[in-house]
Amino acid sequence: MIHARITGTGGYLPEKILTNADLERMVETTDEWIRERTGIEKRHVAADEQSTVDLAEQAARRAMEAAGIEGKDLDLIIVATTTPDLVFPSTACLLQNRIGANGCAAFDVQAVCTGFVYALGVADKFIRAGGTKRALVIGAETLSRIVDWTDRSTCVLFGDGAGAVVLEASEEAGILSTHLHADGRYESLLTVPGGVSQNSALCREGRAFIQMKGNEVFKVAVNTLGRIVDETLEAAGLEKSDIDWLVPHQANTRIIAATAKKLNLPMERVVVTVAHHGNTSAASVPLALDVAVRDGRIQRGDMLLLEAFGGGFTWGSALVRF
Ligand code: COA
Repeated sequence: MIHARITGTGGYLPEKILTNADLERMVETTDEWIRERTGIEKRHVAADEQSTVDLAEQAARRAMEAAGIEGKDLDLIIVATTTPDLVFPSTACLLQNRIGANGCAAFDVQAVCTGFVYALGVADKFIRAGGTKRALVIGAETLSRIVDWTDRSTCVLFGDGAGAVVLEASEEAGILSTHLHADGRYESLLTVPGGVSQNSALCREGRAFIQMKGNEVFKVAVNTLGRIVDETLEAAGLEKSDIDWLVPHQANTRIIAATAKKLNLPMERVVVTVAHHGNTSAASVPLALDVAVRDGRIQRGDMLLLEAFGGGFTWGSALVRF
């Protein structure tokens, strides 16, 4: 049986940093409020000349280097992003040309903060179906372009970045299962209410910004992530104690802690990077994964639970034997 195995990870955060102290000078907020409610200390912001594909390229190159492969070896590229460079071509096509992978399949996936988990699920199915041997799966965002920097309830939360993994076909188990869900009823709780085909004036005027009813999103996120933990363990016939590492979407430490509690996992077994980059949407899970792989916490053979929740609402998980 063919499995998809993670053979390399990579991450990239733009150089420019915006600290909580910087935000204190921009909106009515305090470092204390931001840390207490979210756990965030700083976020990275892309330079004016940097776009999502630039961030994706850096993360992709690092993941390919770790896997020991080159662009020409790839059969598939999937970029998960809510902030693509252009309407088209897709960010995946732009990236493909940069890394010399011309000819392979390349497309974007849009599932907001759950984007990477969705992309991983799709790539896993491509590999397990046969024919696709090597896939590059990326989450990359320039959320700073859709943040209203005068709205204190959202601007403190988000940041830019990219994370990537290389998946390769293997006889050894890798991705054991993925679980993907969405419920469009919740559109109004978390949205950028302007785009190409609806409220396009907002885009033209540069006012298409993230709007969120944070409190309500928080409650649904905690309940939903609790449910997906149960669903994932049940499907694999695993106990909570079988999970070595939780690699969650990095939105808020309180949401992460609630999911860890549901798993009876001490926080030492949870990869938490949100303090350093805020919510980077689709980039957050692969960024966190890369940090824990590179610092040696996550070892070959460990059982990982990846999970995310975001606009849509979308949510999902992946059970991975690393
Ligand atoms: N600085 C200081 N005060 C702020 C603030 C800020 N940056 N943002 C909001 N406030 C104020 C509010 O105006 C409100 O004031 P009021 O009581 O006088 O009306 C008060 O803080 C409490 O607001 P509330 O929204 O209830 O706070 P909260 O405890 O729910 O925390 C979030 C706000 C956004 C941190 C929290 O709801 C959250 O993390 N939600 C989930 C967000 C998320 O993860 N979204 C992405 C999912 S992918």
